[in-house]
Amino acid sequence: MKTIDELLAEGVAGRRVFVRADLNVPLADGVITDDGRIRAVLPTVKALAEAGARVIVASHLGRPKGAPDPAFSLAPAAARIGELLGADVLFATDTVGESATTTVAGLTDGQVAVIENLRFNAGETSKDDAERGEFADRLAAFADVYVGDGFGAVHRKHASVYDLPSRLPHYAGYLIATEVGVLKKLTEDVQRPYVVALGGAKVSDKLAVIDQLLAKADRLLIGGGMAYTFLKAKGYEVGASLLQEDQIPAVTEYIERAEKSGVELVLPVDLLTATDFPDLKSKAPANPATVAADAMPDDQMGLDIGPESRKLYASKLADAATVFWNGPMGVFEHPDYAEGTKAVAQALLDSPGFTVVGGGDSAAAVRILGFDETEFGHISTGGGASLEYLEGKTLPGLAALED
Ligand code: 3PG
Repeated sequence: MKTIDELLAEGVAGRRVFVRADLNVPLADGVITDDGRIRAVLPTVKALAEAGARVIVASHLGRPKGAPDPAFSLAPAAARIGELLGADVLFATDTVGESATTTVAGLTDGQVAVIENLRFNAGETSKDDAERGEFADRLAAFADVYVGDGFGAVHRKHASVYDLPSRLPHYAGYLIATEVGVLKKLTEDVQRPYVVALGGAKVSDKLAVIDQLLAKADRLLIGGGMAYTFLKAKGYEVGASLLQEDQIPAVTEYIERAEKSGVELVLPVDLLTATDFPDLKSKAPANPATVAADAMPDDQMGLDIGPESRKLYASKLADAATVFWNGPMGVFEHPDYAEGTKAVAQALLDSPGFTVVGGGDSAAAVRILGFDETEFGHISTGGGASLEYLEGKTLPGLAALED
Protein backbone atom coordinates (compact mmCIF):
# COMPACT_ATOMS: atom_id res chain seq x y z
CA MET A 1 0.00 0.00 0.00
CA LYS A 2 1.56 3.30 -1.06
CA THR A 3 1.11 6.08 1.44
CA ILE A 4 0.55 9.79 1.24
CA ASP A 5 4.19 10.39 2.21
CA GLU A 6 5.23 8.81 -1.08
CA LEU A 7 2.75 11.01 -2.91
CA LEU A 8 4.06 14.12 -1.17
CA ALA A 9 7.60 13.09 -2.05
CA GLU A 10 6.56 12.79 -5.72
CA GLY A 11 5.08 16.29 -5.49
CA VAL A 12 1.44 17.31 -5.61
CA ALA A 13 1.59 21.02 -6.40
CA GLY A 14 -1.11 21.86 -8.91
CA ARG A 15 -2.44 18.29 -9.01
CA ARG A 16 -6.10 17.54 -8.24
CA VAL A 17 -6.23 15.08 -5.35
CA PHE A 18 -9.48 13.29 -4.48
CA VAL A 19 -9.59 12.48 -0.75
CA ARG A 20 -12.22 9.90 0.22
CA ALA A 21 -12.86 10.76 3.87
CA ASP A 22 -15.42 9.52 6.38
CA LEU A 23 -17.21 12.69 7.45
CA ASN A 24 -20.17 10.68 8.75
CA VAL A 25 -20.54 12.73 11.93
CA PRO A 26 -23.56 12.87 14.25
CA LEU A 27 -25.79 15.90 13.69
CA ALA A 28 -28.57 17.35 15.86
CA ASP A 29 -30.72 19.91 14.03
CA GLY A 30 -27.92 20.47 11.53
CA VAL A 31 -25.27 21.00 14.23
CA ILE A 32 -22.32 18.60 14.52
CA THR A 33 -22.31 17.02 17.99
CA ASP A 34 -19.00 15.15 17.66
CA ASP A 35 -16.42 16.27 15.09
CA GLY A 36 -13.92 13.47 15.86
CA ARG A 37 -14.02 12.04 12.36
CA ILE A 38 -13.45 15.46 10.79
CA ARG A 39 -10.44 16.14 12.97
CA ALA A 40 -9.10 12.66 12.21
CA VAL A 41 -8.80 13.32 8.47
CA LEU A 42 -7.44 16.83 8.86
CA PRO A 43 -3.71 15.93 8.84
CA THR A 44 -4.14 14.42 5.36
CA VAL A 45 -6.13 17.35 3.99
CA LYS A 46 -3.76 19.87 5.54
CA ALA A 47 -0.60 18.16 4.28
CA LEU A 48 -1.96 18.03 0.73
CA ALA A 49 -3.17 21.63 0.77
CA GLU A 50 0.11 22.89 2.23
CA ALA A 51 1.98 21.03 -0.52
CA GLY A 52 -0.06 22.96 -3.12
CA ALA A 53 -2.54 20.26 -4.15
CA ARG A 54 -6.06 21.11 -5.28
CA VAL A 55 -7.90 19.02 -2.73
CA ILE A 56 -11.34 17.53 -3.34
CA VAL A 57 -12.79 16.02 -0.16
CA ALA A 58 -15.68 13.56 -0.54
CA SER A 59 -17.66 11.43 1.89
CA HIS A 60 -21.00 9.92 2.75
CA LEU A 61 -23.13 11.04 5.68
CA GLY A 62 -25.94 8.91 7.05
CA ARG A 63 -27.93 6.66 4.80
CA PRO A 64 -29.90 8.79 2.32
CA LYS A 65 -31.69 6.80 -0.36
CA GLY A 66 -29.60 7.60 -3.46
CA ALA A 67 -31.12 11.06 -3.93
CA PRO A 68 -30.51 14.51 -2.43
CA ASP A 69 -31.88 14.90 1.10
CA PRO A 70 -31.05 18.16 2.93
CA ALA A 71 -31.04 16.37 6.32
CA PHE A 72 -27.86 14.57 5.20
CA SER A 73 -26.02 17.49 3.60
CA LEU A 74 -22.26 17.69 4.11
CA ALA A 75 -22.46 21.51 4.29
CA PRO A 76 -21.94 21.59 8.11
CA ALA A 77 -18.92 19.26 7.77
CA ALA A 78 -17.43 21.47 5.02
CA ALA A 79 -17.84 24.52 7.25
CA ARG A 80 -16.16 22.70 10.14
CA ILE A 81 -13.20 21.71 7.95
CA GLY A 82 -12.84 25.39 7.03
CA GLU A 83 -12.86 26.42 10.70
CA LEU A 84 -10.30 23.79 11.65
CA LEU A 85 -8.03 24.63 8.71
CA GLY A 86 -8.49 28.35 9.19
CA ALA A 87 -9.16 28.69 5.46
CA ASP A 88 -12.08 29.18 3.10
CA VAL A 89 -13.32 25.78 1.96
CA LEU A 90 -15.42 25.59 -1.21
CA PHE A 91 -18.60 23.52 -1.17
CA ALA A 92 -20.29 21.88 -4.15
CA THR A 93 -24.01 21.34 -3.72
CA ASP A 94 -24.02 18.17 -5.82
CA THR A 95 -21.74 15.15 -6.33
CA VAL A 96 -20.92 15.03 -10.04
CA GLY A 97 -23.24 17.70 -11.43
CA GLU A 98 -22.76 21.31 -12.49
CA SER A 99 -21.87 22.59 -9.03
CA ALA A 100 -19.17 19.95 -8.45
CA THR A 101 -17.77 20.45 -11.97
CA THR A 102 -17.44 24.23 -11.62
CA THR A 103 -16.21 24.03 -8.03
CA VAL A 104 -13.43 21.59 -8.90
CA ALA A 105 -12.51 23.56 -12.03
CA GLY A 106 -12.25 26.72 -9.91
CA LEU A 107 -9.86 25.23 -7.34
CA THR A 108 -6.52 26.97 -7.06
CA ASP A 109 -3.29 25.40 -5.76
CA GLY A 110 -3.54 24.69 -2.02
CA GLN A 111 -7.30 25.16 -1.94
CA VAL A 112 -9.82 22.66 -0.54
CA ALA A 113 -13.31 21.85 -1.80
CA VAL A 114 -15.89 19.48 -0.33
CA ILE A 115 -18.43 17.90 -2.65
CA GLU A 116 -21.92 16.94 -1.47
CA ASN A 117 -22.82 13.62 0.13
CA LEU A 118 -21.80 10.83 -2.27
CA ARG A 119 -24.86 8.80 -1.26
CA PHE A 120 -27.08 11.43 -2.91
CA ASN A 121 -26.16 9.50 -6.06
CA ALA A 122 -27.51 5.93 -6.31
CA GLY A 123 -24.29 4.86 -8.06
CA GLU A 124 -22.30 5.16 -4.83
CA THR A 125 -23.86 2.22 -2.99
CA SER A 126 -25.27 0.27 -5.95
CA LYS A 127 -24.89 -3.51 -5.93
CA ASP A 128 -24.60 -3.32 -9.71
CA ASP A 129 -20.93 -3.12 -10.75
CA ALA A 130 -21.73 -1.17 -13.92
CA GLU A 131 -23.79 1.45 -12.10
CA ARG A 132 -21.09 1.91 -9.46
CA GLY A 133 -18.43 1.98 -12.18
CA GLU A 134 -20.24 4.71 -14.07
CA PHE A 135 -20.37 6.90 -10.96
CA ALA A 136 -16.71 6.14 -10.23
CA ASP A 137 -15.82 7.21 -13.81
CA ARG A 138 -17.49 10.57 -13.26
CA LEU A 139 -15.70 11.09 -9.95
CA ALA A 140 -12.40 10.04 -11.52
CA ALA A 141 -12.76 12.80 -14.10
CA PHE A 142 -12.38 15.36 -11.30
CA ALA A 143 -8.97 14.22 -10.13
CA ASP A 144 -5.42 13.17 -11.03
CA VAL A 145 -4.77 11.21 -7.82
CA TYR A 146 -6.83 9.32 -5.20
CA VAL A 147 -6.10 9.29 -1.48
CA GLY A 148 -8.13 6.82 0.59
CA ASP A 149 -8.56 8.07 4.14
CA GLY A 150 -12.15 7.19 5.06
CA PHE A 151 -11.30 4.35 7.40
CA GLY A 152 -14.86 4.15 8.77
CA ALA A 153 -16.12 3.17 5.30
CA VAL A 154 -13.41 0.76 4.10
CA HIS A 155 -15.70 -2.23 4.77
CA ARG A 156 -18.16 -0.92 2.16
CA LYS A 157 -17.92 -2.00 -1.48
CA HIS A 158 -18.98 1.44 -2.65
CA ALA A 159 -17.99 3.40 -5.78
CA SER A 160 -15.79 5.98 -4.06
CA VAL A 161 -14.23 3.39 -1.74
CA TYR A 162 -13.73 0.39 -3.99
CA ASP A 163 -14.14 1.31 -7.69
CA LEU A 164 -12.57 4.75 -7.83
CA PRO A 165 -9.03 3.88 -6.59
CA SER A 166 -8.46 1.53 -9.56
CA ARG A 167 -9.14 4.42 -11.94
CA LEU A 168 -6.44 6.72 -10.51
CA PRO A 169 -2.99 6.44 -8.95
CA HIS A 170 -3.92 5.68 -5.34
CA TYR A 171 -2.42 6.14 -1.88
CA ALA A 172 -3.46 5.61 1.72
CA GLY A 173 -3.85 8.74 3.83
CA TYR A 174 -2.45 9.21 7.33
CA LEU A 175 -5.62 8.06 9.09
CA ILE A 176 -5.90 4.76 7.23
CA ALA A 177 -2.18 4.09 7.73
CA THR A 178 -2.54 4.70 11.49
CA GLU A 179 -5.74 2.64 11.87
CA VAL A 180 -4.32 -0.33 9.99
CA GLY A 181 -1.10 -0.16 12.01
CA VAL A 182 -3.09 -0.31 15.26
CA LEU A 183 -5.35 -3.15 14.14
CA LYS A 184 -2.32 -5.14 13.05
CA LYS A 185 -1.07 -4.96 16.64
CA LEU A 186 -4.34 -6.62 17.71
CA THR A 187 -4.15 -9.40 15.18
CA GLU A 188 -0.46 -10.17 14.69
CA ASP A 189 1.77 -10.91 17.64
CA VAL A 190 -0.60 -9.42 20.24
CA GLN A 191 0.83 -8.65 23.69
CA ARG A 192 -0.90 -10.71 26.45
CA PRO A 193 -3.06 -10.74 28.44
CA TYR A 194 -5.32 -9.55 25.62
CA VAL A 195 -8.66 -8.44 27.08
CA VAL A 196 -11.66 -7.46 24.97
CA ALA A 197 -14.71 -5.60 26.29
CA LEU A 198 -17.73 -5.85 24.02
CA GLY A 199 -21.01 -4.03 24.49
CA GLY A 200 -23.74 -2.50 22.38
CA ALA A 201 -27.31 -3.43 21.78
CA LYS A 202 -27.34 -6.47 19.52
CA VAL A 203 -25.40 -9.68 19.91
CA SER A 204 -26.15 -10.53 16.27
CA ASP A 205 -23.86 -7.64 15.19
CA LYS A 206 -20.98 -9.10 17.17
CA LEU A 207 -21.23 -12.85 16.47
CA ALA A 208 -18.52 -12.96 13.82
CA VAL A 209 -16.06 -10.98 15.92
CA ILE A 210 -16.77 -13.06 19.05
CA ASP A 211 -16.13 -16.14 16.95
CA GLN A 212 -12.67 -14.83 16.02
CA LEU A 213 -11.88 -13.48 19.47
CA LEU A 214 -12.53 -16.84 21.11
CA ALA A 215 -9.38 -17.99 19.33
CA LYS A 216 -7.34 -14.85 20.05
CA ALA A 217 -8.32 -13.12 23.32
CA ASP A 218 -7.53 -14.24 26.85
CA ARG A 219 -10.60 -12.61 28.37
CA LEU A 220 -13.90 -11.41 26.93
CA LEU A 221 -16.04 -9.01 29.00
CA ILE A 222 -19.63 -8.73 27.83
CA GLY A 223 -21.90 -5.75 28.59
CA GLY A 224 -24.63 -3.63 27.02
CA GLY A 225 -27.87 -4.94 25.59
CA MET A 226 -26.14 -8.01 24.17
CA ALA A 227 -25.31 -9.25 27.69
CA TYR A 228 -28.93 -10.31 28.27
CA THR A 229 -28.83 -12.93 25.53
CA PHE A 230 -25.73 -14.36 27.22
CA LEU A 231 -27.41 -14.29 30.66
CA LYS A 232 -30.49 -16.02 29.24
CA ALA A 233 -28.27 -18.64 27.58
CA LYS A 234 -26.76 -19.26 31.03
CA GLY A 235 -30.28 -19.96 32.30
CA TYR A 236 -31.03 -16.63 34.03
CA GLU A 237 -34.31 -14.76 33.59
CA VAL A 238 -33.83 -11.33 32.02
CA GLY A 239 -37.26 -9.75 32.64
CA ALA A 240 -38.13 -7.09 30.07
CA SER A 241 -34.48 -6.60 28.96
CA LEU A 242 -33.35 -6.60 25.35
CA LEU A 243 -33.14 -10.22 24.24
CA GLN A 244 -32.39 -11.91 20.93
CA GLU A 245 -34.01 -15.31 21.48
CA ASP A 246 -32.93 -16.56 18.05
CA GLN A 247 -29.27 -16.03 18.96
CA ILE A 248 -29.38 -18.17 22.10
CA PRO A 249 -28.09 -21.33 20.35
CA ALA A 250 -25.09 -19.45 18.90
CA VAL A 251 -24.34 -17.79 22.23
CA THR A 252 -24.62 -21.12 24.08
CA GLU A 253 -22.09 -22.59 21.67
CA TYR A 254 -19.72 -19.65 22.35
CA ILE A 255 -20.05 -20.10 26.11
CA GLU A 256 -19.14 -23.78 25.74
CA ARG A 257 -16.27 -23.01 23.38
CA ALA A 258 -14.86 -20.38 25.77
CA GLU A 259 -14.89 -22.95 28.60
CA LYS A 260 -13.11 -25.55 26.47
CA SER A 261 -10.48 -23.17 25.09
CA GLY A 262 -9.73 -21.47 28.42
CA VAL A 263 -10.98 -18.03 27.35
CA GLU A 264 -12.42 -16.28 30.38
CA LEU A 265 -15.91 -15.09 29.45
CA VAL A 266 -17.05 -12.48 31.96
CA LEU A 267 -20.73 -11.56 32.29
CA PRO A 268 -22.35 -8.94 34.55
CA VAL A 269 -23.05 -10.09 38.11
CA ASP A 270 -25.45 -7.25 38.81
CA LEU A 271 -27.44 -4.75 36.78
CA LEU A 272 -29.08 -1.36 36.96
CA THR A 273 -32.71 -1.69 35.96
CA ALA A 274 -35.98 0.21 35.45
CA THR A 275 -39.53 -0.62 34.45
CA ASP A 276 -39.42 1.92 31.60
CA PHE A 277 -36.76 3.06 29.17
CA PRO A 278 -35.36 6.41 30.39
CA ASP A 279 -36.11 9.71 28.64
CA LEU A 280 -32.88 10.48 26.81
CA LYS A 281 -34.00 13.96 25.81
CA SER A 282 -35.05 15.41 29.17
CA LYS A 283 -32.65 13.09 31.03
CA ALA A 284 -35.17 13.19 33.90
CA PRO A 285 -33.95 11.08 36.86
CA ALA A 286 -34.79 7.42 36.28
CA ASN A 287 -34.12 6.12 39.84
CA PRO A 288 -32.56 2.84 38.78
CA ALA A 289 -32.73 -0.25 40.97
CA THR A 290 -29.71 -2.52 41.43
CA VAL A 291 -30.47 -6.22 41.03
CA ALA A 292 -28.34 -9.35 40.99
CA ALA A 293 -27.93 -10.85 37.50
CA ASP A 294 -29.65 -14.06 38.65
CA ALA A 295 -32.63 -12.27 40.23
CA MET A 296 -34.09 -10.04 37.55
CA PRO A 297 -37.77 -9.24 38.26
CA ASP A 298 -40.20 -9.88 35.37
CA ASP A 299 -41.19 -6.23 34.98
CA GLN A 300 -37.64 -4.79 35.00
CA MET A 301 -35.24 -4.20 32.13
CA GLY A 302 -31.48 -4.05 32.55
CA LEU A 303 -30.01 -0.76 31.31
CA ASP A 304 -26.45 -0.83 32.62
CA ILE A 305 -24.04 -3.10 34.45
CA GLY A 306 -24.22 -2.69 38.24
CA PRO A 307 -21.60 -1.58 40.82
CA GLU A 308 -20.21 -5.07 41.50
CA SER A 309 -19.87 -5.69 37.77
CA ARG A 310 -18.05 -2.37 37.38
CA LYS A 311 -15.49 -3.46 39.97
CA LEU A 312 -15.23 -6.91 38.41
CA TYR A 313 -14.68 -5.56 34.88
CA ALA A 314 -12.11 -3.01 36.10
CA SER A 315 -10.20 -5.81 37.86
CA LYS A 316 -10.27 -7.94 34.70
CA LEU A 317 -8.84 -5.05 32.70
CA ALA A 318 -6.20 -4.02 35.25
CA ASP A 319 -3.42 -6.40 34.19
CA ALA A 320 -4.11 -6.35 30.45
CA ALA A 321 -1.20 -5.74 28.10
CA THR A 322 -3.61 -5.15 25.21
CA VAL A 323 -7.25 -4.00 25.37
CA PHE A 324 -9.84 -3.63 22.65
CA TRP A 325 -13.18 -2.10 23.64
CA ASN A 326 -16.19 -1.85 21.37
CA GLY A 327 -19.70 -0.90 22.49
CA PRO A 328 -21.11 0.84 25.55
CA MET A 329 -21.94 -1.16 28.69
CA GLY A 330 -25.33 0.53 29.13
CA VAL A 331 -27.56 3.40 28.03
CA PHE A 332 -24.73 5.88 28.60
CA GLU A 333 -26.72 8.70 26.97
CA HIS A 334 -28.65 8.92 30.27
CA PRO A 335 -26.55 9.91 33.31
CA ASP A 336 -28.22 7.26 35.54
CA TYR A 337 -26.99 4.49 33.22
CA ALA A 338 -23.57 5.87 32.23
CA GLU A 339 -21.50 4.50 35.12
CA GLY A 340 -20.79 1.10 33.56
CA THR A 341 -19.45 2.66 30.36
CA LYS A 342 -17.49 5.21 32.41
CA ALA A 343 -15.96 2.44 34.52
CA VAL A 344 -14.70 0.59 31.44
CA ALA A 345 -13.35 3.82 29.91
CA GLN A 346 -11.60 4.64 33.19
CA ALA A 347 -10.17 1.12 33.41
CA LEU A 348 -8.67 1.62 29.94
CA LEU A 349 -7.12 4.90 31.08
CA ASP A 350 -5.71 3.26 34.22
CA SER A 351 -4.31 0.34 32.23
CA PRO A 352 -0.58 0.34 31.56
CA GLY A 353 -1.29 -1.72 28.42
CA PHE A 354 -2.01 -0.70 24.82
CA THR A 355 -5.67 0.37 24.72
CA VAL A 356 -7.85 0.67 21.65
CA VAL A 357 -11.38 2.07 21.58
CA GLY A 358 -13.10 0.60 18.58
CA GLY A 359 -15.08 3.38 16.95
CA GLY A 360 -18.80 3.95 16.73
CA ASP A 361 -20.73 4.39 19.97
CA SER A 362 -17.81 3.67 22.30
CA ALA A 363 -15.70 6.40 20.68
CA ALA A 364 -18.64 8.81 20.94
CA ALA A 365 -19.18 7.77 24.59
CA VAL A 366 -15.56 8.55 25.48
CA ARG A 367 -15.96 12.08 24.15
CA ILE A 368 -19.52 12.69 25.38
CA LEU A 369 -18.64 11.49 28.89
CA GLY A 370 -15.81 14.01 28.96
CA PHE A 371 -12.73 11.76 28.90
CA ASP A 372 -9.51 13.12 27.45
CA GLU A 373 -9.28 11.15 24.23
CA THR A 374 -5.56 11.75 23.88
CA GLU A 375 -4.99 9.54 26.94
CA PHE A 376 -6.22 6.39 25.18
CA GLY A 377 -3.77 4.35 23.11
CA HIS A 378 -5.96 4.77 20.05
CA ILE A 379 -9.57 5.70 19.34
CA SER A 380 -10.64 4.22 16.05
CA THR A 381 -12.88 6.18 13.70
CA GLY A 382 -14.38 2.98 12.35
CA GLY A 383 -16.98 0.98 14.26
CA GLY A 384 -18.06 -1.60 11.68
CA ALA A 385 -14.74 -1.32 9.83
CA SER A 386 -12.59 -2.15 12.87
CA LEU A 387 -14.86 -5.07 13.83
CA GLU A 388 -14.74 -6.49 10.30
CA TYR A 389 -10.96 -6.13 10.30
CA LEU A 390 -10.77 -8.12 13.54
CA GLU A 391 -13.13 -10.70 12.01
CA GLY A 392 -10.37 -11.30 9.46
CA LYS A 393 -12.44 -10.16 6.49
CA THR A 394 -10.96 -8.60 3.38
CA LEU A 395 -12.06 -4.98 3.47
CA PRO A 396 -12.84 -3.65 -0.04
CA GLY A 397 -11.46 -0.17 0.61
CA LEU A 398 -8.14 -1.54 1.87
CA ALA A 399 -7.87 -4.16 -0.86
CA ALA A 400 -8.38 -1.43 -3.46
CA LEU A 401 -5.48 0.56 -2.03
CA GLU A 402 -3.19 -2.49 -2.04
CA ASP A 403 -3.38 -3.14 -5.79
C1 3PG B 1 -19.89 4.30 10.09
O1 3PG B 1 -20.53 5.19 10.66
O2 3PG B 1 -19.61 3.21 10.65
C2 3PG B 1 -19.31 4.57 8.74
O3 3PG B 1 -19.37 5.93 8.42
C3 3PG B 1 -20.02 3.73 7.71
O4 3PG B 1 -21.35 4.10 7.61
P1 3PG B 1 -22.45 3.06 7.04
O5 3PG B 1 -22.58 2.00 8.10
O6 3PG B 1 -23.69 3.86 6.83
O7 3PG B 1 -21.89 2.48 5.76
